[in-house]
Amino acid sequence: MEDAAAMLESYARDPEVTRFLAWKPLQSLEEAEKAIRSRVEGWRKGVSFSWTIRLREGGDLAGTISLRPQGMRLNMGFVVARPYWGRGYTTEAARPVVEWALAQPDIYRVSAVCDTENLASARVLEKIGMQLEGTLRRWDVHPNISDAPRDCLCYAAVK
Ligand SMILES: CC(C)(COP(=O)(O)OP(=O)(O)OC[C@H]1O[C@@H](n2cnc3c(N)ncnc32)[C@H](O)[C@@H]1OP(=O)(O)O)[C@@H](O)C(=O)NCCC(=O)NCCS
Repeated sequence: MEDAAAMLESYARDPEVTRFLAWKPLQSLEEAEKAIRSRVEGWRKGVSFSWTIRLREGGDLAGTISLRPQGMRLNMGFVVARPYWGRGYTTEAARPVVEWALAQPDIYRVSAVCDTENLASARVLEKIGMQLEGTLRRWDVHPNISDAPRDCLCYAAVK
């Protein structure tokens, strides 16, 4: 919970960061605390697993990476604060998460889905060795762009 203010200030209230996400920019500390509570609940219930991405020096919060299990599959998502974009942090964070996930005996597939216009996200997924499987047409609503579901790219790594 002590990350709530940093989360809000560093990325969760930034419309540029949330542009292609499924949620609107957060407006208050209360909303950030609620979001963190839901992530803690996710761990407790085993429905989603979120980690913070922190700077090696100083430990500042740079972003979040999450896995959501669906049977023998996992879906990955990530977000990083704008000042830290383009430094390879997400690539560095995502690669071991996928490797770890596929090393689990019951996990055969890790996927990630991003808006077709989210080129930075697609590039990260390519860099970590996921394969583009296709376009999921009208797949997800990204409410900061439109209320209608948008086409998304589906990437995955399997064993
Ligand atoms: C997607 C995101 C997490 C990437 O984080 P990051 O730490 O900057 O990623 P990396 O630095 O590891 O790699 C980014 C790559 O995308 C490339 N890139 C960035 N913007 C790009 C663009 N507009 N077009 C093409 N490539 C782009 C970078 O050049 C880099 O590739 P390179 O190493 O070949 O040069 C970050 O942009 C972000 O938080 N976006 C908002 C939230 C989001 O969309 N999350 C994903 C939801 S599916």
